[in-house]
Amino acid sequence: MHPERESTRTQEQPLSRRLSTLVIHAGSTHTGGAVVQPIFQSANYLQQDAERYDGVRYLRLANSPQQLALCRKLAAIEQAEDALALASGMAAISTALLSVLKAGDHLLVQRNLYGGTATLLDDLARLGITSTPIDASDPSSWAAAATDHTRAIYVEAISNPLLQVPALQDVVDFAEARGLVSCIDATFVSPTGFQPIPFGFDLVVHSATKYLNGHSDLVAGVIAGSAERIERARSLHNHLGGCLDAHACFLLDRGLKTLTLRVPAQAQRALHLAQVLSEHDAVARVRYPGLPSDPEHARASRWFAHASGMLTFETHTDDAAQRFLQRVSIALNAASLGGLETLVVRPSRSSHLGLEPEQRRALGITDRLIRVSVGAEDPDDLVEDFVSALA
Ligand SMILES: Cc1ncc(COP(=O)(O)O)c(C=O)c1O
Repeated sequence: MHPERESTRTQEQPLSRRLSTLVIHAGSTHTGGAVVQPIFQSANYLQQDAERYDGVRYLRLANSPQQLALCRKLAAIEQAEDALALASGMAAISTALLSVLKAGDHLLVQRNLYGGTATLLDDLARLGITSTPIDASDPSSWAAAATDHTRAIYVEAISNPLLQVPALQDVVDFAEARGLVSCIDATFVSPTGFQPIPFGFDLVVHSATKYLNGHSDLVAGVIAGSAERIERARSLHNHLGGCLDAHACFLLDRGLKTLTLRVPAQAQRALHLAQVLSEHDAVARVRYPGLPSDPEHARASRWFAHASGMLTFETHTDDAAQRFLQRVSIALNAASLGGLETLVVRPSRSSHLGLEPEQRRALGITDRLIRVSVGAEDPDDLVEDFVSALA
């Protein structure tokens, strides 16, 4: 049997439906009458059109029926014309940037990005793509950092790990006024909190490893945007080769179905925990954009439905931070974020270990800084666990 020709475009999708409905139903083909999108464990497909390369159906080309169904769901969730699912968040970021930039181009980037993205910028510099860090909360400083070769501006909706919220409206306006491509990593806030495409961004990327999947059991990435931009990214992705395998597509589709139940509940727990920690003697400083006292609160509350499950705090000494990590019993000392298990980690020993110590110090990433990804455990159990580990 020849598979039906399908497109990832979403024109026929019921975009008027609300997010909780889209995460469950958008994109489904009900192949063979299946309620749940089945796993197509086949690398290759019978050829339909021998004249065109895109007539070839092959997992690496991201056009298996299952990949296409997942991409339709992702596009609907992001309110974008099209989306692409990839093998990791870094595959999404590198593919998105390389689909926009060529040798000689220049990029404006938020200072304080996820460590993997920050080190990718060094790799891009070796290819002749340069970048300048900007203070993303101070739009008046951006024009001086731009050059005649600047083609794009890149920010994180809530930055990893310092939880800064850029001046997002200014990013969109600045990009539009100068003909730049605006690109945002929205991993930390998830589409339940913020949808960058209707807001005005050209491209949104996610580490779907985190909130989109939500179960700490796969690595995946997403790029969403206009049909034209995603087509460019898809064609590059076909040759870079970071495709999402069939089983991971299935798991991501399943994880997405509970997105609107999980992330707001995690954000609620994070707010409660942030409030408790901010009054604790052993804690020097708490950062959570959902806390009214947080410096990022005004921007976060203006644009985001919630501030996600990510918070950070600093103990008074490096030893106290290390002791806390050894003493917690519900929270797990592990990298990554966005799953149902609460995770605690020192960014200086995980996401930002790739940076030189002086680079970390300049960014404000101390050894006392603990990043918390709040899961979905009972909020009182979490508070008890943190308070007893700080004693
Ligand atoms: C904000 C952010 N973007 C991208 C990534 C990279 O994602 P992945 O590990 O899925 O490649 C991470 C990973 O922690 C992240 O925190």
